[in-house]
Amino acid sequence: MAEIVHQPKVLLVTGGAGFIGSHVVRRWVTRHPEVRVINLDALTYAGNLANLKDIEDAPNHRFVRMDIGDTDAVAQLLREEKVDTVMHLAAESHVDRSISGPMAFLETNIMGTASLLSACRTVWTEQGGFEGKRFHHVSTDEVYGSLGEEGFFTEDTAYDPRSPYSSSKAASDHIVRAWHHTYGLPIVLSNCSNNYGSFQFPEKLIPLFIRNAVQKKPLPVYGQGVNVRDWLWVEDHASALEVIITCGADGRTYNIGGENEWKNIDLIRLMCRQLDEKLDRSAGETEQLITYVQDRAGHDMRYAIDATRLREELGWRPSITFEEGLGKTIDWYLDNGDWLDEVTSGAYRDYYDNQYGNR
Ligand SMILES: NC(=O)c1ccc[n+]([C@@H]2O[C@H](COP(=O)([O-])OP(=O)(O)OC[C@H]3O[C@@H](n4cnc5c(N)ncnc54)[C@H](O)[C@@H]3O)[C@@H](O)[C@H]2O)c1
Repeated sequence: MAEIVHQPKVLLVTGGAGFIGSHVVRRWVTRHPEVRVINLDALTYAGNLANLKDIEDAPNHRFVRMDIGDTDAVAQLLREEKVDTVMHLAAESHVDRSISGPMAFLETNIMGTASLLSACRTVWTEQGGFEGKRFHHVSTDEVYGSLGEEGFFTEDTAYDPRSPYSSSKAASDHIVRAWHHTYGLPIVLSNCSNNYGSFQFPEKLIPLFIRNAVQKKPLPVYGQGVNVRDWLWVEDHASALEVIITCGADGRTYNIGGENEWKNIDLIRLMCRQLDEKLDRSAGETEQLITYVQDRAGHDMRYAIDATRLREELGWRPSITFEEGLGKTIDWYLDNGDWLDEVTSGAYRDYYDNQYGNR
């Protein structure tokens, strides 16, 4: 690993009850007992304390239910806990939801981020300045737009976001950089490709398809399934975030990716083959559940990440292959039916049934 330039003492993770955030919190709580981890989350439909059961009583972990948009309450928390480092993951994160209801995305992802920055600037200024402080904004490769068959996104690729989700994340990236350039707030920023792994809410492709496959429900594939995404195991994302927040250069952006591009339909077929084996089904049985549905509006064709900077400057690499990570992920969902039932109960069920349940 590269040289450590920032050592968190009190780390505030926003969105720590969500998919990636819960892995980030678990990583810091278990690997860094010397660091106090404050987990701030509003517990929207996507945030769930069931994601944190194994660490809820850890002495260096405190969960706080709070909205990032509540600037005064966040500022008070920063003061009370003497937070020196913020890793910001709280967001509305599902592209399909951003198409049906964009305003929540603008509110949380743009105004919420500005509110958080404002609270940090106020409190850290009161405490004598920004020395020893750091704000890490966690973002997506979708801000770069859509690629054709060739090429990769680098950190210098011009922004060209195309969905309400990606445009709200792009706006938040610009706002974080503006606080750095205008007020000198110490920041690092990362843009990552699609994550997969345990604790992902089952509206996203991989957990949704595993759940539907187990229940022998249709597997709804957008368009012809030819869109291409790069996939990264969530625990490798969490390890990259640790390297970036501790070793990244002030003001710098790092792309994170798995060098692991898959056409959706090929990925789905691979999942179906693994599921046939794990569920003792005959070869090809799960694949018969594939149903082609109307394409997502404005569906970006291809995302692919060039993570050379992160690899060469900070020495990070993914730890496992996709086949291995996918196998572990399927096993986890098959073994954690109770978790699936818990997070899909209540308000979410109506949305789920409307989207996927009645096909
Ligand atoms: N999932 C991916 O593949 C991926 C890839 C790249 C980047 N990202 C980014 O990583 C971050 C986390 O993504 P995820 O997939 O874990 O999302 P997620 O939807 O699983 O979790 C988001 C969390 O944020 C919380 N939250 C939402 N609004 C809030 C608010 N106003 N105040 C406080 N908490 C709030 C939710 O309760 C939830 O726990 C997001 O910023 C996302 O843009 C995700």
